[in-house]
Amino acid sequence: MRTTQDLFEMKRNGEKITMLTAYDYPSAKQVEKADIDTILVGDSLGMTVLGYDTTVQVTIEDMIHHGRAVRRGAPNTFVVVDMPIGSVGISMEQDLNNALKIYQSTNANAIKAEGAHLTDFVARCKQIGIPVVAHLGLTPQSVGVMGYSVQAKTKDAATQLIEDCKSMEAAGAIMIVLEVIPSDLAETISQSVNIPIIGIGAGNGTDGQVLVYHDILQYEQDHRAKFVKVYGDFSTGVAAIRQYNEEVKSGVFPSDEFTYKAKIMDELK
Ligand code: KIV
Repeated sequence: MRTTQDLFEMKRNGEKITMLTAYDYPSAKQVEKADIDTILVGDSLGMTVLGYDTTVQVTIEDMIHHGRAVRRGAPNTFVVVDMPIGSVGISMEQDLNNALKIYQSTNANAIKAEGAHLTDFVARCKQIGIPVVAHLGLTPQSVGVMGYSVQAKTKDAATQLIEDCKSMEAAGAIMIVLEVIPSDLAETISQSVNIPIIGIGAGNGTDGQVLVYHDILQYEQDHRAKFVKVYGDFSTGVAAIRQYNEEVKSGVFPSDEFTYKAKIMDELK
C-alpha cells in the first residue's frame, strides 16, 4: 500500500498520481486490481449509488457504511473517505469528533473535506494524527451557493485560490483536490506547493487526476461533464439482464447445462 510519503515522493519525481472513486466491495476490488494509486470514497456516492440529485443528502453513516466496504475490497490501496456536508465546518469539537469517527471506523488512510475555510480544522486533525485531503475550487457540497461552473476565472479569485492552497499546505493538508478550474492556474498551483495536487477538470498540469468510477465506465448517465473521458461501457449490463429476462420467460434458461440431475424421483416411485 502506498503511504503519504510515497505520494509526496511521486510528486517530487514527476510521477503522476492516479485516484478513482469506489463505493463498494466489488468496485474497490476492481480499482485495486487495476493498480490505481489511491481510492476516493467520494460523497458523489449520493448520486452514483444512492440515486440522489446532489451530494447534499449524504450522511456520515452513509460514508462509513461505504468506506468500510471499500476498505474490505481494497485492503492494499491508499483510501480517502469524504466528510459529507455538515459533518465539518460547524464547531471544532464536533468537526474533530466526526473526522475521528469516519477515519477510525472506516480504517481509511485519510479523510477529505471541502472548503478553504477549514485550515484550522486541518491543522487540528494533523495534531491528533488524522491526515486530511483538502478539496478546493468547485466544491460540490456548495452547489446551492456556487453551482457547477468553472471556478477561479477572475484575477482576484485565482490569486485567492493560490493563497488558499498555500494555507492548506501550511496547515498540514497531505494533498489537495482541485476541481473545475482553468488548467494554467492548476499547473501554477501544482508548482507552488510541495504537496500533491490532484485535479478533476483542472487540466494536465497537476500532479495527478481523479475521476468518478461510474463516469469513466459510462454508467447510465444522461449528462456528462466536459472533463470526463469514458473508458468502458456499463450499459452492456442492461443487454445481459434483458437477455436473462427473456430466456427465463421463454424457458431457454436454465438449460441442462445449468441443472442438477439425480433421478431422485425415480427412486421415490
Ligand atoms: O465526491 C467525489 O467523488 C469527489 C470527486 C469528484 C473529487 O469529491
